[in-house]
Amino acid sequence: MDMRSIHFRIIDSTNTWSKENYRNFERDKITLVTADQQTDGHGRYHRCWISPANQNIYATFTLFIENGAHLIGNISQVTSLAIVNTLKEKNLKPALKWPNDILVNRKKISGILSEVIFEGNWTILIVGIGLNVNMPAEMLEMIDQPATSLLNEKGQTFEINEILLSLKTHFGQCMSLYLERGFQPFLESYRSLIMHKKDEPLMINHQKGFFQSITDDGALVYTSENGETVTTFAGETRV
Ligand code: BTN
Repeated sequence: MDMRSIHFRIIDSTNTWSKENYRNFERDKITLVTADQQTDGHGRYHRCWISPANQNIYATFTLFIENGAHLIGNISQVTSLAIVNTLKEKNLKPALKWPNDILVNRKKISGILSEVIFEGNWTILIVGIGLNVNMPAEMLEMIDQPATSLLNEKGQTFEINEILLSLKTHFGQCMSLYLERGFQPFLESYRSLIMHKKDEPLMINHQKGFFQSITDDGALVYTSENGETVTTFAGETRV
């Protein structure tokens, strides 16, 4: 799928701008909106996404899919694999925290905020990615959970545009495959990257549980404290 890019020096949020302007996007292309800085960057559950100027990638991809409601479920998980491929090119060893946080050395380096709009037969997928590239340690400490950046891991700064180019390529490749064949081709690599081990304790949607497995649909299976087996498609984990 062809891609068109729009870049801002400063914006409130690339997701918000995309939601406000998607009507002007071409439906047969992916539109990528990026910014050097966000003044109202946000993550899942309305959390703030710290977005200082010229340090990181703030990017939102918008895709239009006719009759695409069935593709909502795994869009963020497939996107997480595109980010993993991008990071592996820089010799990092990323892992995934279910459903789609990207971690390096158990610290979060990237997050995804996917939003969806339905319009007639159209499903409009708005996929926001924050990837910490040159964020220094003192700024990472301001984040409310263990966080890292490429700079923090490798001790050198990176060319943001070069990483963005790689992300665009991997996102485009992953989406083409996902639109054609669904989640199945990604399942093995998704499972192998999941950091959780069988029977390992975790917090799932603020409840204690023990990780069991990932279903073929990408859902999380865990046992609750009272021994019940639960399958969940939505939520977040903490370890
Ligand atoms: C999360 O882990 O909670 C998701 C974080 C998503 C942050 C990105 S940065 C680009 C885009 N614009 C936003 O306001 N959010 C996403």
